[in-house]
Amino acid sequence: MSEIRTGIGWDAHRTAPNRPLILGGVVVPSDFGLDGHSDADVLTHAITDAILGAAALGDIGMHFPDTDPRWRGCDSIVFLTHAKELAEQQGYRIVNVDSTVILERPKLKDFRDAMRSRLADALGLELDRVSVKFKTAEKVGPVGEGRSAESQAIVTLLRVNQDPRP
Ligand code: C5P
Ligand code: MG
Repeated sequence: MSEIRTGIGWDAHRTAPNRPLILGGVVVPSDFGLDGHSDADVLTHAITDAILGAAALGDIGMHFPDTDPRWRGCDSIVFLTHAKELAEQQGYRIVNVDSTVILERPKLKDFRDAMRSRLADALGLELDRVSVKFKTAEKVGPVGEGRSAESQAIVTLLRVNQDPRP
């Protein structure tokens, strides 16, 4: 017997001067970054929530409250790895991750494979199980006006039941 689960994740962060732009654990050269308590890696946060969601394990803020000084400036890959371990403890394995970053600029496509590699390494997955896509918001709304970045993610988990009931 096996069970397939899917989870959805979404996140947003304000853009801010004098902050690094970190997406999928990769520092992207930029004249602005994203504001937040941790490193504000909006892509990694969305994927973390998708993993937690698929396993019905709550959300990122429950496991890593932004009021906790331990997570100030934290590398969000730590959150991602922790969510994966929690899901594994429930018997789940990640099948695949798909994601989208919505950011007006800079162009991100040249960093796609670096982000995929970093995320795949953190999750212990083959590269072809991790997808990262990019979109602008066509200059409309807070993302389109360059005031924020958003990310969406979906994750599929598989639980193989070692002890099938009759
Ligand atoms: O949003 P739009 O459809 O105009 O994006 C066109 C392409 O530009 C996307 O498919 C993506 O590959 C790329 N892109 C990018 N960096 C962004 C936004 C979009 O590389 N910040
Ligand atoms: Mg976040």
